[in-house]
Amino acid sequence: MTPSTPPAPETSAYDVCVLGLGYVGLPTAAVLATVGRRVAGVDLRRDILDTINAGRIHIVEPELDALVRAAVAAGTLRAVPEPVPARAFLICVPTPITRDNLPDLSFVESAARALVPALRPGSLVVLESTVPPGTLRDLVAPIVAASGLVPGRDVFLAHAPERVLPGAVLREVVENERIVGGLTDACTARAAEFYEGFVRGAVHRSGAEVAELTKLAENAFRDVNVAFANELANVCARLGLDVWEVIRLANRHPRVQILRPGPGVGGHCIAVDPWFIAAAAPQDTPLIQAARRVNDERPARVLAQVRHLAARLRRPKIACLGLAYKPDIDDLRESPALHVARDLAAEPDLDLMLVEPHLQSSPIAGAPLVTLEHALASADIVVILVAHRQFRHLRPEHLLRLMVVDPVGLLASRP
Ligand SMILES: NC(=O)c1ccc[n+]([C@@H]2O[C@H](COP(=O)([O-])OP(=O)(O)OC[C@H]3O[C@@H](n4cnc5c(N)ncnc54)[C@H](O)[C@@H]3O)[C@@H](O)[C@H]2O)c1
Repeated sequence: MTPSTPPAPETSAYDVCVLGLGYVGLPTAAVLATVGRRVAGVDLRRDILDTINAGRIHIVEPELDALVRAAVAAGTLRAVPEPVPARAFLICVPTPITRDNLPDLSFVESAARALVPALRPGSLVVLESTVPPGTLRDLVAPIVAASGLVPGRDVFLAHAPERVLPGAVLREVVENERIVGGLTDACTARAAEFYEGFVRGAVHRSGAEVAELTKLAENAFRDVNVAFANELANVCARLGLDVWEVIRLANRHPRVQILRPGPGVGGHCIAVDPWFIAAAAPQDTPLIQAARRVNDERPARVLAQVRHLAARLRRPKIACLGLAYKPDIDDLRESPALHVARDLAAEPDLDLMLVEPHLQSSPIAGAPLVTLEHALASADIVVILVAHRQFRHLRPEHLLRLMVVDPVGLLASRP
């Protein structure tokens, strides 16, 4: 703590108040509660609050249920409808894009407004949501300042972007390195001290805008590199070549590591965050914007392949394997697989069935959820959209009777 930093409030019943109990906020709240913090979790959805207070969870994340159950039973985690006074506030709300690919910061704004009445002198406010550069300083700080508490003097504001991998969140919340960028040096110091209290990875100190852009750069880097692989897949499809063989051989070069192509890029992060950089500097981001378009166009390429095969049959039965945006999770947000399945479901001259081991019911009317065995026994065309663990045993000889579209390369020969 710097000498000018006033002590954290002593009287709060809670150490941490987490706003937004989704894929980031709930695991973070549970981990903090497990290491001895008294945590209040806030969400707008009543059903989420009830589920958590009953010791259960509403998302799929390995081992999270046991952690939440234990923390709620021990009284260290409680879900509440509104922010309560706490030493630290973590904002973990969604940051989607609009239809025009512009940042939608309305959730961040409303969360910041909601926590103001719970602020006390000495409180720390950390924005964990992924945001465009300048959000902490230009959006959050003025809202906090309107309370009369001066950011950087009375209350401490920082951005600490979350970089967790869904499916491994509990490990990564603790083990990943963190970047902490404060509004001022005192804010950075306070936030770094908070994270060093439970994170085992290094905590890197910087400014708010650097922290904001660094997170975006990480995801744009992934997006651009996946776009390269996807563009190569498009080229190979046109030339009648096997993209998996080309990539396998190219990657024998000691300084080349081409990523895997697929049906597109999905999820809350990689398909969204590059647009935050593009919005901040539209003239300077032709590569980032082109990569987004290449990746966004991939579902249409997969659909074209499926339609080409379907045209050979009178009323084809088509099975889509996987709907999530990546393997081994239940998250359908921005999922290119779901995009492909929805477009197929809208076609009148085919019967669609879906195999998604992480769902209990079909998200698409008219397209039943079936088992893998049922799909393989009854479909004419199989479209492998996600390389879920449950599909990885499949080999070409299991699918001899079927026409197969395999944009994820599940059946491609491995090196
Ligand atoms: N999911 C990931 O793997 C991941 C990884 C790194 C960063 N992020 C970023 O973290 C942020 C949160 O993502 P997520 O995946 O946890 O989102 P999510 O949609 O799973 O959860 C967000 C939760 O916030 C709640 N909420 C919305 N407005 C609120 C408010 N004003 N007060 C309280 N609760 C509110 C929603 O009801 C929802 O339950 C986003 O900026 C995202 O880009 C996500």
